[in-house]
Amino acid sequence: MISERVFGKTNSGEEVLAFTLTDGARKVTILNLGGTIQSIVVPDKNGNPTDVLLGYNDVAGYQNNDGYLGALIGRFGNRIGAGKLTIDGTEYQLYCNDKGNHLHGGKSGFDKKIWAHKIDGDELVLSIVSPDGEENYPGTLKVEVTYSFQGGELKIKYHAVSDKKTAINLTNHAYFNVNGEGDGSMLDNVLWLDCDEIVPTDPKLIPVGGFKAVEGTAFDFNAPKEIGRDIDAADIDLKQGGGYDHCYMLKNKCGEYVKYAVVFSKKTGIKMSCYTDMPAVQFYAGNFLGQQGKTAYYGKRAGFCLETQAIPNNVNVEEYAARGSSIYDAGKEYHFTAAYKFEA
Ligand code: BGC
Repeated sequence: MISERVFGKTNSGEEVLAFTLTDGARKVTILNLGGTIQSIVVPDKNGNPTDVLLGYNDVAGYQNNDGYLGALIGRFGNRIGAGKLTIDGTEYQLYCNDKGNHLHGGKSGFDKKIWAHKIDGDELVLSIVSPDGEENYPGTLKVEVTYSFQGGELKIKYHAVSDKKTAINLTNHAYFNVNGEGDGSMLDNVLWLDCDEIVPTDPKLIPVGGFKAVEGTAFDFNAPKEIGRDIDAADIDLKQGGGYDHCYMLKNKCGEYVKYAVVFSKKTGIKMSCYTDMPAVQFYAGNFLGQQGKTAYYGKRAGFCLETQAIPNNVNVEEYAARGSSIYDAGKEYHFTAAYKFEA
C-alpha cells in the first residue's frame, strides 16, 4: 500500500511530497525531492520498529546539508576526473564541485530536483526529464525510477534514455546503520561483501587505472567482519579515502542479478541483504559525515552506503569501461535494478 502526504516546502516554495510504502509492519518513505529515501522502518528481533536509514525530519535538512543522504544520484554517480567527458571527439567540460572534479552529477544533480510521480498499484514511479546541456551533458535524458517494497525488500528499478549519445551512471546514496539511525557509529555492523577486487584511486579519489586484489588487505570482506575492524589499518588507499570510500568489483561479470552483500547487527538482529545487476558498488563508510540528523547528530561513520553503479570515471579509463561502459548511444536503453532486503 502507498500513502501520500505533504512533507514540506523547498526554500523556493515547491511542495515536497512523502510517499510511504507499507509492507506489514515495515515502512519505507520516499520523497519527490531528489527521489530521496527518507526512512526505512523495520522490526528488530524483539519486534521494535527501528529506522535503519539516516536522513532528516524536514525539507530544510535535505536542502541545507551536504552528504546526499538517501538521494538519487545523476547523471553520474561518484567522480569524473577533472569533469572531462569526451564523446566521439567532442569534449564536454562538466561542472567541478569536488576538488577540481565532477561529483554526483555536478552543481545541481538529480538529488536536488522535484520529480514527477505516479502511483501504479504497489509501485511508486518517479520521473524527470533532464534537458540537453544540463550540467553540460549532451542529450535530453528521460529518467524513470520505480520503487517497490514487498516481503521486506525495497527494490529500485532505474531506466533512462537519451536522444544524443551521452554518459549515464545513476545510483542511490542511502546511508544505513542496522543498529538504527542515530545509534552512534555503524562500525560494529558486520559486513559480507562478495568482491575480490577494488578500484584504487589517486589522492583526490579518482580511479585512474588498475585493480587491487582485496585478499590479505583491510578491504577483504569475503569472510564477514565488523566494518570498523580494519578501517584505520595502514594502507595507502584507506588513508586517501579517510576510510572505506572505494569502488568494489562484483563477480557478476555478465550483468546477472546477484546478492553481493549482507550486513548484520548483533544488537537489533536486523539483517540487510543487497542485490544488483550492476558490475560494481561504491562502499562509502560515511567518513565525511558531520550533521544533525533525524534523532541525533550524525558524526563521522554514523552510516555507510552501498552505491551500485558502473566504475566511477570509466568514461576516461578504457579498462574500466571494458567492465561496463557508462556511454550510451542515442535511443539505447539504460536500465538496472538494486534491492535491499530486511529481516530480523
Ligand atoms: C563518495 C564520497 C563522497 C560522498 C559525498 C560518496 O559516494 O564516495 O567520496 O564524499 O559520496 O557524500
